Amino acid sequence: MDDDTPDEVFADLRPKHLGVWGVAQIAAGTGLAVYAMWVGFLQPGFRKVPLRLQVPYIPASRAQVQNVMTLLKGRKGGLVDLGSGDGRIVLEAHQHGFSPAVGYELNPWLVRLSRFHAWRAGHQDKVSYRREDLWKVDLTKCKNVTVFLAPSVLSLLQKKLQAELPDDALVVAGRFPLPDWKPCRIEGHGVDRAWAYSMQAHKQHAVRNDTELTKENESS
Ligand SMILES: C[S@@+](CC[C@H](N)C(=O)[O-])C[C@H]1O[C@@H](n2cnc3c(N)ncnc32)[C@H](O)[C@@H]1O
Repeated sequence: MDDDTPDEVFADLRPKHLGVWGVAQIAAGTGLAVYAMWVGFLQPGFRKVPLRLQVPYIPASRAQVQNVMTLLKGRKGGLVDLGSGDGRIVLEAHQHGFSPAVGYELNPWLVRLSRFHAWRAGHQDKVSYRREDLWKVDLTKCKNVTVFLAPSVLSLLQKKLQAELPDDALVVAGRFPLPDWKPCRIEGHGVDRAWAYSMQAHKQHAVRNDTELTKENESS
């Protein structure tokens, strides 16, 4: 039998101060775990993408997905999600009648996870997830495009959309709006908000601005 006094027993149970060395060990361990997670799970596929174009994986919230779908109401045909993450927007779009519904995603783990989600939902033959760089995808035949990317890449994305999308396309951006385009509709609040952009309206607006600029230049 151990003959410790009750005070000694309770002293052992009291939380001990970590000290500087303990805190440093925890910080180093956490840093290592985060780095391992980044290298092993989040970074694969991005080695050839310039750092300024790398966008982290953050899944859309349930409300965000619903807002995106509300803005797509009345639309038909195919849909592409640029940077499709775990595939939730594509799967939901398929369930709302979009066909083909295609996700482009660079991270191979997320592509596998998307396919697993589609298989679990019994729609594996109806949706497709491609491991491709969204900047290299040809958008000339896309009628419905969804994006949830970082604000730092949206200016460049605007240029790609403007150059490639047909006039009857609709773009829906989740969480962050396209910086220079005028949305035709907005749905939701805060981090769940989504913005819709009609290519036709956007192109007409751009032509009007060009005409006004030319007139101003001619009269000055
Ligand atoms: C903020 S998450 C959005 C995921 C998903 N669209 C959603 O709404 O839940 C952005 C995704 O884009 C992917 N991504 C970033 N850059 C990419 C690129 N150049 N090509 C393909 N996917 C990319 C990331 O891996 C990440 O999964």
